[in-house]
Amino acid sequence: MRLQGKTIIITGASSGIGKAATRLFAKDGANVVLSARRGELLAKLATEICDAGGQAIAVAGDIRDDDHAASLVEAAESTFGGLDGAFNNAGAVGTMAAVADLDALTWDTVLDTNLKAAFFCAKHQVKAMMERGSGAIVFTGSFVGVTIGLPGMGAYAASKAGLIGLTQVMAAELGRSGIRVNALLPGGTRTEMASSDPGTLDAIASMHALQRIAEPEEIARVAGFLLSDEASFITGASICADGGNSIFKL
Ligand SMILES: NC(=O)c1ccc[n+]([C@@H]2O[C@H](COP(=O)([O-])OP(=O)(O)OC[C@H]3O[C@@H](n4cnc5c(N)ncnc54)[C@H](OP(=O)(O)O)[C@@H]3O)[C@@H](O)[C@H]2O)c1
Repeated sequence: MRLQGKTIIITGASSGIGKAATRLFAKDGANVVLSARRGELLAKLATEICDAGGQAIAVAGDIRDDDHAASLVEAAESTFGGLDGAFNNAGAVGTMAAVADLDALTWDTVLDTNLKAAFFCAKHQVKAMMERGSGAIVFTGSFVGVTIGLPGMGAYAASKAGLIGLTQVMAAELGRSGIRVNALLPGGTRTEMASSDPGTLDAIASMHALQRIAEPEEIARVAGFLLSDEASFITGASICADGGNSIFKL
């Protein structure tokens, strides 16, 4: 119950890492505010949490919309009385193409979803946390763009590398206010985002020292730790939960 009584926003909660985080955080005692576009999936998950005795509300919307980012904080405050943490996790890969062939629409869509939306979310979250005098924010980065350059993923890599800069600046700005900000860098993880093709999954697995990809719960556990008071002296960090892909080369 390391998140007992904390109110936490989780974006990208309709599937994958965000869905696993929702279940885990609620089990650990958090009140959870869920965001994603697929409202039916969100509502189903919120009902599952409430039926199990937890506290959850679903707020469907597009994370690229600043008003949606604001509405998540408003929901946390009006339903649970404030905000303690945020797992800004929503993300998209977009159409893969070599940089020379990358079109501006793909670039903008990926950067807007992964980086600009994270900024929108954080801006509103920080104001609420400052009222509390404490808080913790975790952005989901990636190994891509930080430890490995994967061909075809220029926009995605740029967005995820950008999150690290945002994390560092926010941590520096907010340390005095008792707010911690960290980036979590997962390795390949078995979600909708990862390929469903077994051959591709095997190829991704082979990039990791552990020779497998992660289950979403393995990444969610690290996010839960970073949002909890157990991580009270960790801020401005980019924490790899990458199965050793950053140190592995055959
Ligand atoms: N899977 C991996 O191998 C891997 C590795 C490193 C990092 N990551 C990162 O982990 C995070 C979670 O991804 P995942 O692996 O769990 O994939 P996923 O199952 O595809 O989940 C992505 C989530 O983001 C949400 N989302 C995407 N675009 C959105 C938008 N415009 N507005 C609102 N929500 C949006 C999706 O919800 P809706 O579609 O319902 O809107 C979904 O809940 C991402 O930031 C991803 O970049 C994943």
